[in-house]
Amino acid sequence: LDTRQTKTAELVAQKGSSTFIGNAANQTFGFNQPYLGPTLVLENGDFNPVVKNQLSRPISVHWHGLLVRGEHDGGPHIPVIEGQEWRPEMLVNQAPATLWYHTHIHQQTAHDVHKGLAGIIHLTDGRDDDRSLPNTYGVDDVTLVLQDRRFDDRGFVSYELSMPDLMHGFTGETMLINGQYGAVCSTPKGIARLRLVYGSNAKIYSLFFEDQRDFQLIATDAGFLDQPQSLTKLPLAPGERAEILVDFSSGQPAMLMSDGDPNQGPGGMMGRMRGMVDLFVDRSISILPFAVDEQLPTRITSFPDQLEGPGISLREQDVIQTRSLSLDMGMMGGGGGGGGFAINGESFDMRRINLEVALGTTEKWRVQTTMLSHPFHIHGAIFKVLSEEGNAPLKHNTGFKDTVLVRDQTELLVRFDHPASQQNPFMYHCHILEHEDAGMMGQFTVS
Ligand code: C2O
Ligand code: CU
Ligand code: CU
Repeated sequence: LDTRQTKTAELVAQKGSSTFIGNAANQTFGFNQPYLGPTLVLENGDFNPVVKNQLSRPISVHWHGLLVRGEHDGGPHIPVIEGQEWRPEMLVNQAPATLWYHTHIHQQTAHDVHKGLAGIIHLTDGRDDDRSLPNTYGVDDVTLVLQDRRFDDRGFVSYELSMPDLMHGFTGETMLINGQYGAVCSTPKGIARLRLVYGSNAKIYSLFFEDQRDFQLIATDAGFLDQPQSLTKLPLAPGERAEILVDFSSGQPAMLMSDGDPNQGPGGMMGRMRGMVDLFVDRSISILPFAVDEQLPTRITSFPDQLEGPGISLREQDVIQTRSLSLDMGMMGGGGGGGGFAINGESFDMRRINLEVALGTTEKWRVQTTMLSHPFHIHGAIFKVLSEEGNAPLKHNTGFKDTVLVRDQTELLVRFDHPASQQNPFMYHCHILEHEDAGMMGQFTVS
């Protein structure tokens, strides 16, 4: 991935040619390059990007995780058509975090993100040295965009949805890391910071090292945790980001792996029915090998004990409204051409505002699923997980987030500090892109 440090980024959506295993049919999309886009490094303050579109289809650029007004959010109401440009002028003011951007045109998001219309944002405050965190970009601070793809012997399989793909989401067995097939990550001896960015359409990862080493989770979607959490396994679902610190001071190589996706295979649907969990068959895969390169400078050799989170006030006693949302994929109901993909029975309709939220308030959202696990995302807001299945949140879900995997029932405390009008509402949706495109999405105003 290309990187540049700029506040006036220009992103030009364009076609790529066969970047993967020689096959001209492997046509991709990217921003300023054949596949994916540059990493934008931002600090708080003015952010005035220019988005241009050279593709013969509408695109948009949604700043996933950036807390800006509805008209700057880049959702489905803000298309940039062929030959046009979009120049939002934003004021960024939030805690440092790893964010991303991607196209968000209704019913095209899954296809166009699969082809490559996505990239990374590092929002920094320049204080990582004070935190004793690795921060040499691409050396001990490595951003990894995880994307599973299907390959056949002619190369990268293009995006054609079958019925099971629609139901379970489009997944593959082969990983691309930062758009590269067969990548290896070299790391200095010492502590490395890995910024894991979920760039796939649907597959739910559960990441671990083959040698079972533990690692420290230091940040989730919306910024640092107050304290690092020691983990040996980290679930990462569509739309989520996580930063981990891994100790490579032994000099030993390591292999990052993932368990199979609980939504895939016969276990996906059937396994969710009580007592049939063992039917689950999706296999573990290798994600990325790491090799220690002793020529690279070692900077950090120990884990921090303390960090400082975004410190946003989210208290249950401030809740002024509780809402229940059910993520539906029934064969019947749902209405509106989405094959039953809906939220509270309503399939996404660009013309319908589903919820109205009061600016500057805190709400409790109780999100429920049946059949599959769905990663639930809210635009323009930050939340904390209050409970999962009636219990305290899992370790990796204790920080501030904008996307969370809902297995059964998850309660969120959500803070709405950014306005969105009827013309430019915010979205909430399942981040399995196939589900989102099929109608598992709603929109809300904040005023
Ligand atoms: Cu990552 Cu509605 O988006
Ligand atoms: Cu988003
Ligand atoms: Cu879903």
